[in-house]
Amino acid sequence: MRTVRVELGARSYPIYVGEGLLPQVGERARQHLPGRRLMVISNPTVLGLYGTILLEGLRAAGWEVLLAEIPDGEEHKNLTTAAQLYDRAVSGRLERGDAILAFGGGVVGDVAGFVAATFMRGIAWGQVPTTLLAQVDASVGGKVGINHPQGKNLVGAFYQPRMVIADVSVLASLPGRELASGLAEVVKYGVIRDAAFFAWLEEWVEPVLSLESEALIHAVATSCAIKAEVVAADEQETGKRAILNFGHTVGHALESITNYSRFAHGEAVAIGMAVAARLARRLGLGFSQEEEERLLGLLQTIGLPTSVPPDLDPEALVQFMQRDKKVRGGRIVWVLPRRLGEVLLKEDVPLELLLEILSNQA
Ligand SMILES: NC(=O)c1ccc[n+]([C@@H]2O[C@H](COP(=O)([O-])OP(=O)(O)OC[C@H]3O[C@@H](n4cnc5c(N)ncnc54)[C@H](O)[C@@H]3O)[C@@H](O)[C@H]2O)c1
Ligand SMILES: [Zn+2]
Repeated sequence: MRTVRVELGARSYPIYVGEGLLPQVGERARQHLPGRRLMVISNPTVLGLYGTILLEGLRAAGWEVLLAEIPDGEEHKNLTTAAQLYDRAVSGRLERGDAILAFGGGVVGDVAGFVAATFMRGIAWGQVPTTLLAQVDASVGGKVGINHPQGKNLVGAFYQPRMVIADVSVLASLPGRELASGLAEVVKYGVIRDAAFFAWLEEWVEPVLSLESEALIHAVATSCAIKAEVVAADEQETGKRAILNFGHTVGHALESITNYSRFAHGEAVAIGMAVAARLARRLGLGFSQEEEERLLGLLQTIGLPTSVPPDLDPEALVQFMQRDKKVRGGRIVWVLPRRLGEVLLKEDVPLELLLEILSNQA
């Protein structure tokens, strides 16, 4: 097992990454969470697969469990679900000194964290992320929230958990596409911060794809460590944390113009990283053709797309990015690679060049 610490002063917390950790969650939770009552928030998919093993361990460790099931799916990451969870907490007499445990993917984590941040002005919570995306991204950094009909993650807070337990064994049941999608973020960490990790991924991609535990543990723990370091430098996202958006400017536009139904998040981000790499190279930022080929090669080995499908309109993508930028009251801030392991922020990217690359003519 590996332990990554997220260093945030009084709000610091550990992320445990290992194999077969579910039965020990109860014991670990005793170390990090107060009280003896725990509201476990999960969904039918995750509970059907791993509910028994988690709950048995919790009860064996002395926890009185209040189980709260929410429906599966991003469309349920909303205020209605949060309201039902408040009702459950009240009727189950959850108290300020008790705690919440999120058990599931990023949707469960985001809603459960939001409820933890707001119920009785905030109660302690922990996370047991069960998708690769949740293990390497959503469970690190304390962003919690729900969607609003007008936009994703429009309502939320920064509210750190007391502990995270990432058991890589549960990834065995993850659909292949979800695994690949999560790996896009793993590749992202290598590009933005750690060339040696990128090279390690190139060498170990097959063991990772075939879910060999040691390789998965290294991939997840290193990803968490990189995100933790970036978050520690900028918890409230005022500047430095922006580098985590590498690949996401175009990625979000792709997801949005296709109504979040065509691409898995990581697929859109993979295309976004490929576009950013081409932009960086054409702008002469130092990123070499060889590095671009290595990035595209790794993404393709994972089974991720690396170019904008020809039926999508580049103009529509650019329009989305500009509208999105206005909503945030600023300019489009591009995160572009200078070399593998280092990115820079750039605002003034020529529109013609962007359109050329989006239409795969570059
Ligand atoms: N808070 C953050 O910093 C942050 C960062 C990135 C993403 N997010 C959020 O995370 C969400 C996406 O997370 P996600 O990709 O985990 O989606 P998800 O939570 O919807 O999970 C994807 C699917 O996998 C199922 N599942 C979960 N664990 C499984 C397992 N072990 N085996 C088989 N199936 C399993 C889920 O029930 C669901 O159907 C989005 O809402 C996004 O906004 C948050
Ligand atoms: Zn992402």
